Amino acid sequence: MIKVQIPATSANIGSGFDSLGLALNLYNDVHLAEHDGILIESLDQTRVPRTEKNLIYRTAKSLYELCGRPFPGLHIKQTNNIPMTRGLGSSSACIVGGLVGANELMGKPLCVSELVDIAAQLEGHPDNSTPAILGGLVTSVFDGKKVHCVKQQIAEDLKFVTFIPDFELKTEVARQSLPKQIDHRDAVYNLSRAALMSVSLYSGSYENLRVAADDRLHQPYRLGLIPHAGKILDILYEAGAYAGYISGAGPTLMAIVDGSAQSFEADAKAAIEQEGILGWRIETRQIDNQGTQVFVD
Ligand code: HSE
Repeated sequence: MIKVQIPATSANIGSGFDSLGLALNLYNDVHLAEHDGILIESLDQTRVPRTEKNLIYRTAKSLYELCGRPFPGLHIKQTNNIPMTRGLGSSSACIVGGLVGANELMGKPLCVSELVDIAAQLEGHPDNSTPAILGGLVTSVFDGKKVHCVKQQIAEDLKFVTFIPDFELKTEVARQSLPKQIDHRDAVYNLSRAALMSVSLYSGSYENLRVAADDRLHQPYRLGLIPHAGKILDILYEAGAYAGYISGAGPTLMAIVDGSAQSFEADAKAAIEQEGILGWRIETRQIDNQGTQVFVD
C-alpha cells in the first residue's frame, strides 16, 4: 500500500476569502492499494462511508476515469485526525488524498499543478485544497479551470491556536449566509487587507495581522451562525493574539499567536470558562511547510 499524509488547512485567514489558506501540522492519513472491488476501513473511531459514496474513493475513481485508465477498485484505510465539518479542510484532505493517491497508484501521469487544478475544480474554491497539496501559506486565484498561485514558507515563530466547538457548520450553509452583492468600499476594504495578510505573514510583519484579518465579505455574516464566536474573538485578542478569525467557513476560530507566548492557551481557556462558554476545545498547531507527502508502506 501507499500512504498519503495530508495536512489540515485554515482558509481565508480573515480577509482572503476564497484565496488565502495555510497548512497546519495536523494530518489525515490515507492508505491506498488497487483492489478487486471496494474495501474501506477506518483506522480510528471516525465513522466513514464504506460504499462508493466515500469521498476519497469517489475522487480516486474519477481521476482514473479522467486519465482514461481502467479502474480496478480500491482498498482504502483512513485515519481522520482533522475534525470534520469544522473549517479545517477535512473535505479537501479527502479530495487531495484520493487524487494524490490515485495519481501515485497510476504511476504519476499528472504533475502537481494539474492535481492542484483538479482539486480546486472538485472543491469549488482553491484556498483549502491548494495549501493542502503544497503546504505553507498559499495565495491562489482560481479562474474556473486553473489555479494561479504562490506558495510561501512561513517562519516557525508563530503558533496557530484552534478553538474548535462541539458542533458542525456545513460550508454550503455558511456560504448561503453571504450576500450576493457587496459595496465597492467593502471590496477595497478586503482586497487591501488580503494583500497585507499575505505579505505580512511572509515577511514577519506580525503587527499588521490584526488589521489584515478583518473583513467585510464573510465573517460579519457568519459570526451569527457560531454561538459565542464574537466573545471568543474578543477573548483571544485580550489574551494577546496577533490575529483572530473564522477558520475557513467555520465554526472553528483561529488565533495567530507569537510562538513564545507561554500562557496564551491557559489565559484564553480560563476566560472562556469564566464566561460560562462550554464545548470548545483549544489545540495548538504550527505551520506545515511541506504539504501532502507520499510514503510506501
Ligand atoms: N473559502 C471557503 C469559504 C472556505 O469560506 O466558504 C471553505 O472551507
